[in-house]
Amino acid sequence: MAKYRIRQSLALSGEVAISGSKNAVLPIMAAALLTDERCEITDVPALRDVDVMRGLMCGIGARVNGRCGGVLEIATEGIASEEAPNELVKKMRASVLVMGPLLARAGRARVALPGGCAIGTRPIDLHLKGLKALGARIDSENGYVIAAADRLRGANIYLDSPSVGATENITMAAVLAEGTTVIENAAEEPEIVDMVNFLNKMGARIKGAGTNTIKIEGVKRLGGARHAVIPDRIETGTFMLAAAITRGRVLIRNAVPDHVKPVTAKLKECGVDVRVSDDGLIVDARHGALMSTDIRTLPYPGFPTDIQSQFMAFLTTVRGSGIVTENVFENRYMHVNELNRMGANIKIEGRVAIVEGDCRLRGAEVFATDLRAGAALALAGLYASGTTQISEIHHIERGYSAFVEKLTGLGADIARVEE
Ligand code: UD1
Repeated sequence: MAKYRIRQSLALSGEVAISGSKNAVLPIMAAALLTDERCEITDVPALRDVDVMRGLMCGIGARVNGRCGGVLEIATEGIASEEAPNELVKKMRASVLVMGPLLARAGRARVALPGGCAIGTRPIDLHLKGLKALGARIDSENGYVIAAADRLRGANIYLDSPSVGATENITMAAVLAEGTTVIENAAEEPEIVDMVNFLNKMGARIKGAGTNTIKIEGVKRLGGARHAVIPDRIETGTFMLAAAITRGRVLIRNAVPDHVKPVTAKLKECGVDVRVSDDGLIVDARHGALMSTDIRTLPYPGFPTDIQSQFMAFLTTVRGSGIVTENVFENRYMHVNELNRMGANIKIEGRVAIVEGDCRLRGAEVFATDLRAGAALALAGLYASGTTQISEIHHIERGYSAFVEKLTGLGADIARVEE
C-alpha cells in the first residue's frame, strides 16, 4: 500500500504552478454530454477524480481522448447508457453531475444514490427537487434514482440552501428545456461560473452565474466548444498554507487572487504577508510571530469548507487559540483525531472546534480520512519534528495533481513509498 513519508521541512521556498480546478472540470466534462458535437477541454488536471469521470463518460457512450494533465477531447454522438453505476458513484459523489445532462439529452437518467460519506450524509434532495420542478418524474429502485421526462420545461426554482452540485445539475438540465428557468439562492462558486462559461460557448443562454440568481433561457440544441479550466482555488489555498505552516516564502503561479480572498484575509490576520504580483500570489511567513484567528466556513464567497482542515493544521502552530466553525458539512472534523495524535490540542463541540496554538507537533503514523483531511495531515507533517507517515493517500490523489512533486520542488522532504 502506498504511503507518504514526510520529514520536517521548514521554510518552503520557490514557486509552484497551480493546476486546473477539480471542481470545475468535473461538471464541465458532464456538460459535454449535452451536445453530439466534439468538445475540447484544456488545462485538465491529472487527478483520480477526473479518471473516474472519464470512466463514467465512456460507460455512457462518450469517446474521451487525450490525457489528464493536458487536453481532453470528448465526443458523444451516441448515448449507449443513461446510467451512473454504483461502483463509480461510491468512488466519487460528483458522478451525480451526469444526471442533469443525461436527462436533458436522453430524456432519462439512472444514477446510484450516493451513500453515507466521510464528511456527512450529503443528500441529493435539492438536485431532485429542482429536476422535478423542470418536469422530470423521479423514482427510486434498488438504491438508484431514476429521472425521466419527455420534455423539460423552464421553472422558477428556489434552493433551500445554495448547493454547488444542485445548482450545476439543475442548470445543465435547464439549458435544453422549453422556456426560462430561474434558480434563486443559487451557489455562487467560481466553478459554477466556469461551467456556465463553457455552456454559453456551446450556445446556451445563461445569465447571472456568480450571483445568487441564475437565469437560463432554454435553447433547442448545443454545439461543441473549446474551454480552458480555471486554476484550482483549493489547491492554491493549500499551497498558501504550506508556505505559512513552514514559515516559508512561496510564489504561487496561476493563482486567481479574487478566488482565495477569504484565505488571504485570514492569513493576513495571523500575520502572514500575502501579496499579488504580476507572476502570481506571494505568501511570505518568514518574519514576525504568527497569531491565531477564528474561521467560519460558508458558501462562496465565504471561507471555503475545503480549506478548513488545512487552516486548522496551521492554527495548531501559531500563538494563541482559535475557534473554527464548520457550517457547510455536519461532520468534517475527521482530521482532528489524527492531528491530535501528532501532538495538537483540538477539542470539538458540535460544529465548533477549539484549536490551541503553539503545539509541538511530532511525526506519527496517521491516515487520510478524506481528500482535504489528507492535505491537512501532509501540511502538519511538514511542520512536525521527526517523520510522519500518511496512509490512505488515494484520497489525496483524488484531488491534488503531482502533490509530492510540487511540494518537493519547494524543498519539502516528502516521498511516496510503497509498503
Ligand atoms: C461541492 C464540492 C466540494 C465542496 C462543496 C462545498 C464539487 C465536485 N465538490 O460539493 O468539494 O466541499 O461543494 O463547497 O464541486 N446538501 C443537501 N441536499 C442536496 C445537496 C447538498 O442537503 O441536495 C447539503 C450537503 O449535505 C452539504 C451542503 O448542502 O451539507 C453543501 O453541499 P454542496 O454544495 O451540494 O456540495 P457538493 O456539490 O457535493
